[in-house]
Amino acid sequence: MTWSMLFANFRLYRTPGFGNADFNTLKSDQILGFIEAQNGVHVNLERRKRDPELEKTAPSRVMNAHSEKILEYQKRLKMEEEEYARSLNVDKEKLITMDELKKHTTKETGVWILIDGSVYDVTTWLKDHPGGADSLLRAGGKDASKLFELTNHSSFAKSEALKYKIGRIQLQSNL
Ligand code: HEM
Repeated sequence: MTWSMLFANFRLYRTPGFGNADFNTLKSDQILGFIEAQNGVHVNLERRKRDPELEKTAPSRVMNAHSEKILEYQKRLKMEEEEYARSLNVDKEKLITMDELKKHTTKETGVWILIDGSVYDVTTWLKDHPGGADSLLRAGGKDASKLFELTNHSSFAKSEALKYKIGRIQLQSNL
């Protein structure tokens, strides 16, 4: 099935002198058959208008599934934008103690991790992390600088991390 079948209907122009014909079908064999019967026609692709009859057929279910994917994507984009906007209001230089960090190891308490002196609240990132939620949960409440370095994160991952930064670790003196 081609994309054109999902988004277009076909306007077939007959051989000059025979007038135009509207031909609304999703079945490529019907279209090819028509073209053959007319001994060659011009086919113009046009955007498909919503047609309740056609929407009862299987290909339109594909079309609906496709629009659901688009809606899902738009929703996700909106959530990401909101998350980003929220992250801009966070004081990223706030000092956080090791004791405070250690308390954040689960979804319920929030999962905080320390990487190179910065503290990240990755609770909302768990479900999206390409390395899986488990690796973040295991790193929760700890200094994960070495693990983060070892897994060779890209510069994209590093800039993504900034969204989740909630502060810096308070360096404690032993004196
Ligand atoms: C704020 C913290 C983190 C962010 C934003 C982050 C983001 C990412 C991103 C975007 C990727 C995809 C590959 C890439 O672009 O580099 C990735 C992969 C990965 N991450 Fe993280 N990550 C974080 C922390 C961690 C930690 C603490 C671990 C601990 C082990 C970890 C383990 C992994 C692994 C194993 C992969 C590789 C997945 C694969 O390629 O199969 N990540 N991470």
